[in-house]
Amino acid sequence: MSKSGPSSTDASRAHAATSRGAFSSSLGVLAATLGSAVGLGNIWKFPSLTGANGGAGFLLIYLLSTLFIGLPLMVAEIAIGRQARANPISALRQLQPRGAPWWLIGVAGMAAAFLIMAFYSEVVAWVFAYVAKALSGNLLSSDPVQTQASFDALVRDPVQALLWQWVVLAFIGGILLLGVTRGIEAATKRLMPLLFLLLVLLGGYSLTLPGAGQALTFLFAPEWHKITPAVVLTAMGLAFFKLSIGMGTMMTYGSYFTAEQNIPATATRVMLADLSVSLLAGMAIFPAVFSFGFQPSAGPSLVFITIPAVFAQMPGGSVLLAAFFLLTAIAATGAMLSLMEVPVVILHERWGLSRPRATLLTLLILGLLGAGCALSQSTLATFQPGGRTLFDWADYLSSNLLLPAGGIAIALFVGWAWGERAFAAQLSNHGQLGNQGLARVVSLLLRWVTPVLILLVMLAGLGVFSGA
Ligand code: PHE
Repeated sequence: MSKSGPSSTDASRAHAATSRGAFSSSLGVLAATLGSAVGLGNIWKFPSLTGANGGAGFLLIYLLSTLFIGLPLMVAEIAIGRQARANPISALRQLQPRGAPWWLIGVAGMAAAFLIMAFYSEVVAWVFAYVAKALSGNLLSSDPVQTQASFDALVRDPVQALLWQWVVLAFIGGILLLGVTRGIEAATKRLMPLLFLLLVLLGGYSLTLPGAGQALTFLFAPEWHKITPAVVLTAMGLAFFKLSIGMGTMMTYGSYFTAEQNIPATATRVMLADLSVSLLAGMAIFPAVFSFGFQPSAGPSLVFITIPAVFAQMPGGSVLLAAFFLLTAIAATGAMLSLMEVPVVILHERWGLSRPRATLLTLLILGLLGAGCALSQSTLATFQPGGRTLFDWADYLSSNLLLPAGGIAIALFVGWAWGERAFAAQLSNHGQLGNQGLARVVSLLLRWVTPVLILLVMLAGLGVFSGA
């Protein structure tokens, strides 16, 4: 055995797996990475969570989590990926000190990707179904009882729930079959500008409505008494979910980054743009909700029940509604692509499956796992171990447990095992950029601050300190 041991085997295995795909330009890198971050999290989670959990207070905790936990981890993951130019498992095997099991982070990441996709794909399924329904015009009704009934008819019908999920999986799988450059990059490069355009138009219009002031108060007025440890955990979990970190997505995309790309600058831009999308989504949704006398409700009901009823009362409502679900579908597409790419590239590079076969196997596994979530409001509605449906478990476990745990492990790996010099070389593009000081700071954060913060928030949020 050569003395470089498993690392070189891994490197050559990664290289042998055909020529790897890569993003072809700086714009492509940005579009794909932002495409991953922006998703249902911005439209389906962020506005309702912020509104329900105390407005500005929640926002502040979310921002702090993003700065001290999210950004350093995003930079860390991208740096690992670009250094190794391999899938998360091979990447960590390549970079870990000999014999250490850090590659298990990649295995956990793949599991998290499947778990997230299991429920995420079902919400995307509802969005796709709603695009179709909005276009055919049979969604509009100013009576929320009616829009509730339409939503129930969709989610409580096992056949529709499954069929739309398969439509989504086939659509995303189809784009992935085209590869990294012609699939992911090409799709996100076209879709992201369209998303921004639709969102700005919708947000701008909504802000002219009479309920705008009330909406801004709802989103931004701090209600500190609502901030509990569980809410802090929710805010941190949202930061992980939003920035697609803690499970190998950013490592995977990092492995496609161009050598010239400035990693910290890109991560910061993505974070800021993602935050803008979240805020814009809030500003598109809530003014309309308040203007027509509705109450903001949480989660799915806001997007799928309240929004159609609200838009039904506006001039041009059917067009606006179609635009709204279209932009949600676009956002979700970029995120799904990045989620699915994780198992696809792992199966491709580590198991030696061709990309098409790796994609098909991923779709097959997802078809099975996803069915549990798709049917959780119909056939499996009464199956609620521990008081949650399978759908809710997948959502809860991924954001509040797996992603933060993955984040701790990644922070510890970069802070203690990988070595600051290699990390700084990635952040500064081998000395070409002046990011060395920044690398020092991020390194220290990852070593001492990020993992401790995540652990404390997790324990507090799970009720360990209060004995709850
Ligand atoms: N960031 C995506 C969103 O907000 C979700 C996601 C999580 C995507 C983890 C990839 C990985 O919708």
